[in-house]
Amino acid sequence: MQNIVIHGPCQLSGEITVQGAKNSILPILAASVLSRGECIIKNCPNILDVQTSIEILNYLGCKTKFENSTLIVNSEIISRNEIPDYLMRKMRSSIIFLGALVARTGGAKLTFPGGCNLGPRPIDIHLSSLQQLGVSINNIHGALECKILDKISGTDIVLPFPSVGATENVILASSTCKGTTIIENAAREPEISDLANFLNSMGAKIKGAGSSKITIEGVNKFHPSEYSVIPDRIVSITLMAGAAATGGNLILRKTDPNLIKSIFPIFEEAGCLIKTYKDTLKINAPEKIHSVEEIRTMPYPGFPTDAQAPIMAMLAKSIGTSVFVETIFENRFKHAEELIKLGAKIKVNGNVAVVEGVENLFGAKIRAHDLRGAAALVIAGLASYGKTIIEGAEYFLRGYEISNFPNCIKIEPTIED
Ligand code: EPZ
Repeated sequence: MQNIVIHGPCQLSGEITVQGAKNSILPILAASVLSRGECIIKNCPNILDVQTSIEILNYLGCKTKFENSTLIVNSEIISRNEIPDYLMRKMRSSIIFLGALVARTGGAKLTFPGGCNLGPRPIDIHLSSLQQLGVSINNIHGALECKILDKISGTDIVLPFPSVGATENVILASSTCKGTTIIENAAREPEISDLANFLNSMGAKIKGAGSSKITIEGVNKFHPSEYSVIPDRIVSITLMAGAAATGGNLILRKTDPNLIKSIFPIFEEAGCLIKTYKDTLKINAPEKIHSVEEIRTMPYPGFPTDAQAPIMAMLAKSIGTSVFVETIFENRFKHAEELIKLGAKIKVNGNVAVVEGVENLFGAKIRAHDLRGAAALVIAGLASYGKTIIEGAEYFLRGYEISNFPNCIKIEPTIED
């Protein structure tokens, strides 16, 4: 176990190059098993969830090499199509290998995935959609045995909710189907388009990704490709929130302002100035930020649930009161009780959190419970006076490259009291 130790206040200013998107690279790595050759994936973030994906790929028989943000995956030989429980439990995205393995090998044997605890996170939509495609799935005491008799036949699938992961699994499983699969009410997140673009670069025929109707025409064969992952929009928002919370002037390089422009009004309402030019974004924060009107999380292009925690931390020291409504996950306010330990005034009632801005926050020993919650605690630690110790650094490192953050943030081994 490791802690994040922050000596605050510490302004988030200067220039930072934004890492590649976690929620793109994870499904893309699952997709790489389809290539039957060597894929070169650029702008790959060096984070724990990528390390877990590499472990899974190596377990399946692939050869991998990771150097300077470039990950090479050779999937010429896949010697197994099962993933052991200890790897499945490490992250939610392990379940995306299901669609890819079915498409490559005609079957898969795995267990239920782990990941951040944000309340119940069922995979019923993944499984029922794959069943509609003709995948037979047997749940034997939590072990999922999945197989197809012949090739998957293309069909129309209407998702009951635009689940990101289920959309990815259906795209992957049907990429080699007989005929055409149409997904209605598909997730529209940019990371879905990134996955489809990667697959198309290997020879897939996928149209409409980024809209709620995606058409997948099955192909017989893929070829290896070279591909660069999009910038991480949630990391960009986290860094902007860090600058806003600490009165910083920050320049983000290699970001994509188009992917996050829908949340600019929130920063502007808080009093920040934002300028963009191509892949660069500049944010100038006032000394003291203002509260904002109600923030309601929604599927893309709405306000991202992954940005809820970092923005809450940003507003903890604002002038006025802000309200958050979390509509995607049942229990995604665990960071609130930790922010309160730093002096924040937050009241949580069900899926609503009311944040009354305070004058100052003060360092304390707190605990991260999930990835974006951990990012929120880092932002609050930067904005607090004194030393903040955040237990559970591993959550943060699952999705953030620590090298992007200022030197006042350190990772230290846990010392038992
Ligand atoms: C993806 O998770 C992201 N993860 C999450 O990011 C993100 O918060 C989420 O999408 C929503 O944007 C990755 O891309 C790796 P969902 P995913 O399926 O695919 C319910 C982060 O911090 N649901 O769209 O798991 C589910 O319980 C992470 O980077 C079902 O009921 O999200 C939730 O309430 C955390 N049955 C809602 O749908 C299902 O079969 C959205 O889930 C699937 C989902």
